[in-house]
Formats: sequence, C-alpha cells, structure tokens
Amino acid sequence: MANNGISTVRDPQLQEFMNSIGFDKRLLKYDIEGSKAHVMMLMGRNHITTKDGMDILNALNVVEEDANNGGLKLEQEFEDVHMNVEAALVAQVGEKGGMVHMARSRNDQVALDLRLYTTDEIANIIALIKDLQGILLDLAEANMGVVIPGYTHLQQAQPVLLSHYALAHFHQLQRDIQRFKQTLPRVRVNPLGSAALAGTGIDIDREQTTEILGLDSPSENSLDGVSDRDFALETLFNASVCMTHLSGLCEELILWSSQEFGLIRFGDGHVLGSSIMPQKHNPDIAELVRGKVGRVNGNLLALLTTLKGLPLAYNKDLQEDKEALFDSVDTLKGSLMALKTALETAEVVLDQEAVIEELENNFANATALADHITVEMGVPFRSAYKMTKDIIAECAGTNTTLNQFPLEEYQKFGDFTEDVYTALDIMKSMEKKGSYGGTTLPRVKEALTKARETLANENGC
Ligand code: ARG
Repeated sequence: MANNGISTVRDPQLQEFMNSIGFDKRLLKYDIEGSKAHVMMLMGRNHITTKDGMDILNALNVVEEDANNGGLKLEQEFEDVHMNVEAALVAQVGEKGGMVHMARSRNDQVALDLRLYTTDEIANIIALIKDLQGILLDLAEANMGVVIPGYTHLQQAQPVLLSHYALAHFHQLQRDIQRFKQTLPRVRVNPLGSAALAGTGIDIDREQTTEILGLDSPSENSLDGVSDRDFALETLFNASVCMTHLSGLCEELILWSSQEFGLIRFGDGHVLGSSIMPQKHNPDIAELVRGKVGRVNGNLLALLTTLKGLPLAYNKDLQEDKEALFDSVDTLKGSLMALKTALETAEVVLDQEAVIEELENNFANATALADHITVEMGVPFRSAYKMTKDIIAECAGTNTTLNQFPLEEYQKFGDFTEDVYTALDIMKSMEKKGSYGGTTLPRVKEALTKARETLANENGC
C-alpha cells in the first residue's frame, strides 16, 4: 500500500512507540461501521455521488471481510486503525476512497469508535454478570435451608442461610448491572462531525449519522466531542466496582474451600494441583480473579492520571485510553466467565450437624438469647445484653453451651421458662418469620423468588 504522506515518522522503533495499530486494531469493526454511516450521510448531502458512495461502501465491506478472514495486513506505516482502513479502502477503490475523510478527522473518528466499542462491551458484560447471577440463584435454591456461620470481623457472629449469602452477592452484581446501564446514555453520544475540534464548514447531517449508528444524540460541543473520555472512565470505574465485588466473593470461596472451613469443594476440572504436594486441590480460579482486581484498579487510576490537566481538545495523550479500557473489559469478562464455571461445579460439602455444633460452641446464638430476654421477658435490651454476657461467662466457666445450660441455672438470672431453648435452637430460629431482608427461611424464599423475577426482567441495555 502506498504511503499517504500523513505519517512522517520513519524510524521503525519510534513508529512502534508512537503508533496505536498494535492495539486499536480491535476497533476495526467500529471504524468501518462509522465510516459507512459517514459515507451514507455524505451521499445524502450530495457530497459523494451514489455511484462513488456505493463503490466505497462495497469496498468497506471487502476490507471488513478481509479483516475477518485474516487477509488484511495492518501496517505500522499507517499508525493506527483509522489510517489502515483508509489505506485498505484506497487500495480497493483507488483515490476516491479518500473521499471518506471529508468533513471528518481521526479525532472524532477515534472518539466514535471507542464509544461504539464500549456500548457493545457493556452489553456483553451485563450478559456475563447475568449468567453469574443465575448460578448464584441456582446455588441458593439447591441449598435452601442450609445454615452456615455468618461473620463480622471474620469472627462467627450469627447463623445465616447459605442461600442468604448467595443472594447478597446477587444484589451486589445487580447494582453492577445498574451502574453499567446508567453509564450508557453518556456512552451513546455521537461525536462524529466534531471533526478535528471546531466542527466543519461542510454541510453535514449529524442527526442522520446518529440515527444510522443507533446512538442517542450528537455531542453538543465539538471541542468536548473529541476530548470527552468520561464514558471510558466511568466504564473503568464500573469494572473496578464489579471486580471488587467478585474479589470479595472469591475470598469467601477460598476460605470456605479450606480444610478449616470445609464448606465447599471446587470441581476437579476447576482447581490446580501443586507440583510437589500431591494432595493439593487449590482454588486457583478464585485466587486469580481476586488478584486481577489489581490491574483493573490500576487501569482506572492510569486513565484518571492521563486525563488530569489535559487541555482541550485532542492531545496524543488520549491514545492511552484504549489499552486501559480494553484490558479492564477483557479482565472483567474473563473473570465473570471463569467464576461462573467454577461455581457451577462447586459442591457444598459441609456437615450441617457439625456446623450447628460449632455455632453453639461459639455462642453464635447469643443475640437470639438477648432478643428473647428483651421480647419475651420484657427486660430492656441493654440489660438483656448484660444478662446474656453474664450467662455466657457462666457457660464458658463450666464448659457448656447456651443450649445445654440447665433451666435452674437460667432461672438464677431471671424468669426463664423452657421457651428459652426454642429461641436458642439454631435451626428453629431460621424458620421464624424474621425482618424484611433478613436471613430466615420464609424471607429468603421470598427474596429468591423476587431475585429470579429481577433476573428474568433484566433486559440488558
Ligand atoms: N491513534 C489515535 C488515538 O488513538 C487516533 C487519533 C489521532 N489523531 C491525531 N490527531 N493524531 O488517539
């Protein structure tokens, strides 16, 4: 392909440093989509004849096909994807291929491409989040009634249903979907027509390209149109929040699959062994996803830092937006997919009786006792709390649990009856009605039905 005379950097090493073709080639599909819309609009305004326009559109299709079947050679000489597409177009249809750049600059072109890419990827991310949510709900349903310790400060605090736990993660992910969706109106803006920075004197129709591209509206200000990368920042932030949620879930899965917790076991195809310790069954997927939050947070900070203090309008610094965004999108999508497959094959292996015994031994029903003293015996909560603490001290001193503490002993503290043992029974306490949003069986069943509806009604973008 002939050099178009735009790029004057000749040193190959320097070229590679300056160029973006190494990574922006993944925008090729969007670059062609944007070019087609632009050509159609130029035809509509009679800047390009129907014949030339059709030739250019056909040639753009050929370039796209070539790219899809690996037949398009992308050259460093042409700096970026935009110049490569234009060069390939000219190679197809000759000089008239150059008409495509009338009333357009790479500055509005790259902003558009990145917005089209982000729109698509947000839809892909939402679909993957929904898949993971579906697995969490299946897990909640299959294990309805299973009780595990709930923790605060990673100390056993109160019993909770495993399904309640799974639903908590469902809700985190639901907020992630909302956040991505709420970002979309600021992504789906059409900068095309901002040209280099000042708009163009050529008669163009920005509404038409907006419509052809399926975007919401043309950008309001040409300077802002070529400079605005807020949509990329927001997407990076949303990816960071979602990865943060995944990392918390992963941390729990790692702990739960340890010998000490013994709550779950990952399927054989989803763990890696150790090269020296034959017995190892390592939760590598969960660890890797937890670790990948680092790079995703790094990408957010990198772009924030690149954008800080940038004057209007286009500056070459903006070329740095792509790798950060691509990497966070890839990492998030990969993590969602991997975690879904790991959870699909994870087995809940806990011994329910042993868990209940442990909860009793660790006085995880102490709050239930304080609530009972307050509600059934009319003692103000703070005094009930103190009474419970004294009873626990007595139990600990005699090496017993609240469930085994004799009624005569309870009666030394107040007007206790046999009812106290029902309040202390961990399984029974799970069956009581409970407060809205709480962990009891009826509430969690209700919450699961509602979550299934939310998921079914979630239409992505
Ligand atoms: N490769 C450039 C980027 O990624 C495209 C825009 C170039 N514009 C320019 N005036 N040099 O940002």
